[in-house]
Amino acid sequence: MRKIKTAVFGAGFMGKVHSEAIRRLGFVEIAGVAAVSEEEARNFGNAIGVERTTANYKELLADPSIEAVHVCTPNNLHAPMSKDALLAGKAVLCEKPLTLNVKEAEELVAIAAEKNLPNCVNHNLRYYPSVQQIRDMIAHGDLGEILIVNGSYFQDWLLYDTDYNWRVERKDNGDLRAMGDIGSHWMDMIQHLTGLKITALCADLQTFHKTRKKPKGAVETFTGKKLSPNDYTEIPIDTDDFGSVLIRLGDRARGNFAVSQMSAGCKNRFQFEIFGTKCGVAWNQERPDELWIGQRNASNGIIVKDGSLFYPHAAGFADLPGGHSEGYDDAHKQVYKRFYKKVADPSAAIDYPTFADGLWGMRLLEKVKESSEKGAWVTT
Ligand SMILES: NC(=O)c1ccc[n+]([C@@H]2O[C@H](COP(=O)([O-])OP(=O)(O)OC[C@H]3O[C@@H](n4cnc5c(N)ncnc54)[C@H](O)[C@@H]3O)[C@@H](O)[C@H]2O)c1
Repeated sequence: MRKIKTAVFGAGFMGKVHSEAIRRLGFVEIAGVAAVSEEEARNFGNAIGVERTTANYKELLADPSIEAVHVCTPNNLHAPMSKDALLAGKAVLCEKPLTLNVKEAEELVAIAAEKNLPNCVNHNLRYYPSVQQIRDMIAHGDLGEILIVNGSYFQDWLLYDTDYNWRVERKDNGDLRAMGDIGSHWMDMIQHLTGLKITALCADLQTFHKTRKKPKGAVETFTGKKLSPNDYTEIPIDTDDFGSVLIRLGDRARGNFAVSQMSAGCKNRFQFEIFGTKCGVAWNQERPDELWIGQRNASNGIIVKDGSLFYPHAAGFADLPGGHSEGYDDAHKQVYKRFYKKVADPSAAIDYPTFADGLWGMRLLEKVKESSEKGAWVTT
């Protein structure tokens, strides 16, 4: 594979995760990093061994040797940064949710198409090997017709009103927080696995903390709980801490899911169950190597991740032998591997989530908001 130069925008939680996973590919070099301040960019560059650092991401876009960028910044910057990057001729891998709204996402899809550039929205959670095995089982008809889905994505890192992150504020995050942050993953996942679109939904959102205490300094994702509750400003909150959604999938399947950032003890408990006419499956991100199979007339079972026992396509997502777990970082790597294959070779297949998937995700989020506001079912 030829060498490719890329740039990472954002030096927080995702900036670090992306940088590590990029380097695991071997043929992609991080040529520059951008952060909100020169100091943060420099510290990040020093920590990961990248010399070129900047608080002005456009400097990196002006470099013709950089072919791709990773947008790992707060949600309100996804659209402007991705747009600038596409217009500068770069392939773009952007974090989810793709944008703040449908309009921005439509524009990105249109520009990417016009420029004919690889574009990817980072629904990395699709790419755990056991999850891909579920996808293949469904595609091969092992579950029969899909009837029922259910699940949740629960976290606890925003349980207290002293827990703060840019996500709690609409200006940086967009209108929906728990739904946008983790509900976007759940909805993407269930549609990716079943091959069915969410056709209608009925949502109920709740903001438990109507105010939160905002620390006067900067706070990185998941680190707020380490702060002492001294130096705070009380701010009003109107983004969702919790949401619950009834869904219709395709013509006949039914289901529901809930998301929460205030469920004590749940760290990243992303789980789903899918029941078909033949059997059921379940998976939980906190135990990613285990795939539960439920049978009506035989013993239930757990398949522990082992590529040699998987369908060949799913086995392609297991880079390690059975017994060596493959987790969150590995799922990122699997997305980037496929994205950069396309960057390196435009004739390669698109085997990763695209901006079009991100646009559909934004449409569903707008429908969730509409439904919750109306207190009624809405069609998508
Ligand atoms: N796919 C996943 O599993 C996953 C997980 C966590 C977060 N995310 C997404 O990743 C994105 C970033 O989240 P995070 O948790 O890493 O946030 P974070 O707060 O940890 O980091 C945000 C970074 O953005 C940088 N930034 C802000 N303004 C900038 C600017 N103008 N120019 C350059 N950099 C700027 C900041 O310097 C900071 O380093 C969000 O959209 C979030 O939804 C995805």
